[in-house]
Amino acid sequence: MDFELKTLTRARVCTEKCDALVVLVPLNVEEGDDTLSVLVEAATQSGDFERKPGKLLQTYRTTGIAATRVILVGTGEGSAKNVRTAVTAAMGTIKGGNAQRVVLCLSLLKEAGASHMQAAVVACGDAAYSYSATKSKVQPAKLQRTVVAVASAAEAKAGFEKAVGLVKGIALAKEWGNRPSNHATPVMLAGAARELAKLPRVKVEILGPKEVAKLGMGSFMAVAQGSEEPLRFIVLRYDGGLKSDAPVVLVGKGITFDTGGISIKPASEMDEMKFDMCGAASVLGAFRALGELQPKLNVIGLIPSCENMPDGKAIKPGDVVTSMSGQTIEILNTDAEGRLVLCDALTYAERFKPRAVVDIATLTGACVVALGAVRSGLFSSDDALAQSLLNAGERSLDLCWRMPLDEDYADGLKSNFADVANVAGRAGGSVTAAKFLQRFAAKFAWAHLDIAGTAWKSGAAKGSTGRPVALLVEYLLEQAAKTTAVSKAPAKKRVKTVRA
Ligand code: BES
Ligand code: MN
Ligand code: ZN
Repeated sequence: MDFELKTLTRARVCTEKCDALVVLVPLNVEEGDDTLSVLVEAATQSGDFERKPGKLLQTYRTTGIAATRVILVGTGEGSAKNVRTAVTAAMGTIKGGNAQRVVLCLSLLKEAGASHMQAAVVACGDAAYSYSATKSKVQPAKLQRTVVAVASAAEAKAGFEKAVGLVKGIALAKEWGNRPSNHATPVMLAGAARELAKLPRVKVEILGPKEVAKLGMGSFMAVAQGSEEPLRFIVLRYDGGLKSDAPVVLVGKGITFDTGGISIKPASEMDEMKFDMCGAASVLGAFRALGELQPKLNVIGLIPSCENMPDGKAIKPGDVVTSMSGQTIEILNTDAEGRLVLCDALTYAERFKPRAVVDIATLTGACVVALGAVRSGLFSSDDALAQSLLNAGERSLDLCWRMPLDEDYADGLKSNFADVANVAGRAGGSVTAAKFLQRFAAKFAWAHLDIAGTAWKSGAAKGSTGRPVALLVEYLLEQAAKTTAVSKAPAKKRVKTVRA
């Protein structure tokens, strides 16, 4: 689906031809004598339309309005979150129908800043996404174009473009998250990364079993050894900053299927472990958005990808492996495999002398218990980084919540046979997992996002959410703004402004 931004006053919106006109109506609307304002006023007065977030009223072939269908939708006091609720509700009524061209009217909103624009466009993109990769009969998407109508397109342009780039990243993350493990192997994920390298300033390097062995990634290799699918270690680069700018490194857990290995999982809902590469998918999605938006900063994406399978060659509980860092790990539970692939990727990240490293992983069922599907778990050894990510989450409506990292939580990771065990007891499982990772992230500012509860939905709406691409992109763009501010400052002379 395409998006277009247009300046359309209320009166002009009435004459805009389209299949469906979605009008976001806040509690307080300035009165007007155009057809739309009169309609909104009459509908509210009659009691048929409530302006509460997500409440709908539809009209058909309305006199004085060129759109075939008009969908009035309430946005309450008009917060970005309410805008999202409203657009989701309105798009829900459009989705099954025949509408090809939709006008999404934000012109009635008193406050229509970048966050409102983003909420509207992302909700629209979310509704327009549909999965078809493994269906025999593909229904072509009806919805072709959404025109976003605002009071001033010039003012809204930057926010609009950012949101449209973000939608592409979210859609890519959803797509790879949703593909089943036989259609999203580590090799195929590497292929998706290769595709991204067609975007300006994006480069990719793919490492296979030989290279990974040479690097000494014994922990990552141990997880992969039970699978027929060869592992891949994906290294993405986005070179938008100066060569001398320290990059942000994103590390995404890329377990394309998690059976649990020898510590095998129960059968019920095991299919959902195809989503165990959603961290990796979010890194791909973030790079897609970077390629679209071209911000001025450097970003590295690292994806350790393999399957976790039971097999004659698989790791067994009690096995001890040597990680790339040199630390030995006693694998007490082969189902705690995410941390085993991430720890080597974190060690690999050291070579980039990063300004920050953020790993993203569907790491623990315990995080689902703690925070549910609303907020991702955030763990960080660096208060400033934690605050930036928390703020980015709030601004992008892709929320997270900071969790503790007290040293006492690491007690359970002690091992009699290695430097560290890969699991502690059941209690505080998301924190002990983070404590394990922290041992490999001592050399840089580090944060860990546990997205086990937020990356996909179960039940009838089963599917990837594309989270936390919005949070990551929000954070990265803020970092880019900071970098530009620094390089603009009349500090020491730069030798050469090399741009890749
Ligand atoms: N991929 C799972 C985490 C997971 C489980 C995410 C359920 C979403 C829903 C991870 O690899 C895992 O199996 N973790 C174990 C760790 C345990 C063995 C310490 C878990 O959470 O049960
Ligand atoms: Mn597991
Ligand atoms: Zn897993």
